[in-house]
Amino acid sequence: MDTSTKKNTFVKAYPNIALVKYWGKFDKEKHLAYNSSLSISVDTIYTLSSARVIDERKDRFYLNNEIQGEKELSKIISYLDKIRNIYKINSYFEIKSINSFPTAAGLASSASGYLALAKAIDIALSLNLDDNEISALARIGSVSASRSAFGGFVALDKKSEFAYSFHSADEYSVIFIIVDSKKKTISSRIAMEDTVNNSDFYNAWLESTERDFTEIKKAIVDKNFSKIGEITENSSMKMHALMLAAKPSFTYLNGDSLKIIEKIRMIRKNSIECYFTLDAGPNVKVLVKRENSKKLLAKLREIYPDFNIILCNSSNGYEIVKGDKIDQRIR
Ligand code: PMV
Repeated sequence: MDTSTKKNTFVKAYPNIALVKYWGKFDKEKHLAYNSSLSISVDTIYTLSSARVIDERKDRFYLNNEIQGEKELSKIISYLDKIRNIYKINSYFEIKSINSFPTAAGLASSASGYLALAKAIDIALSLNLDDNEISALARIGSVSASRSAFGGFVALDKKSEFAYSFHSADEYSVIFIIVDSKKKTISSRIAMEDTVNNSDFYNAWLESTERDFTEIKKAIVDKNFSKIGEITENSSMKMHALMLAAKPSFTYLNGDSLKIIEKIRMIRKNSIECYFTLDAGPNVKVLVKRENSKKLLAKLREIYPDFNIILCNSSNGYEIVKGDKIDQRIR
């Protein structure tokens, strides 16, 4: 790709929500996960990113059209340093990203963010990486990002460098109930380190998660939604239990999360089959069959008029978008 076609080229990447969660990495530099995970890539909400080599000795980072100060910039610089090191290059970059949804609030913005960034760097440097290599490059930013390289249900085997597409997920939707869009106070990196080192349940987590991983794959192939949902809720609850049982104990859940969990159980019992999952934040995601998603969305919006509730279907993975209109939105 020559420079003229690179101009106005953006990567649109989508988050993914893990049904079997990953929690804990054994190689902090390389970001290799202790356990296997399986996610669904979603559409509707996204990160849009571009990268450009600049003739300066320091990277620049704009998020949502605002130049970022040292704190946010340092995270991007440490990621770009890893890339400079891998490809033995000396280039510095201007990165522009827009998140269409709250950043670092447990809504998987790091997944869409690092995938978009990895692909944008690939384009800026004309590396011509394939999707496995893009997945691996995103993983060194954030493990969950490796799964956003693909659409539908995506698996990441434990200790593996890249994720892979497992199955289409066209029949399913995920509804995000955003109870709190503030940034989390404990990063998932710190929380993982704490639980790996200080939770007596961590070995049980590792064993049971590999079982969940095998079983959910079978349930997906068999289209056994009840089994997919049961494993999804259990995986999320086990991950949060790790943190509650850590020494010292902590939690990402708040009162609203717990009330919504109870409500989802009631809705499942009385009307629509649906299952909850929560990540490193208090926001709740609900897995539902696509045929019931609009009905569930309407119900949830009626029950929770004050929360931002977003319906997402399964996405096909990231996209490359071009155009001056986007260029104007990202100044
Ligand atoms: O890779 P990170 O730092 O985005 O970790 C996120 C981990 C969870 O979202 C909680 C679970 C997962 O597998 O995505």
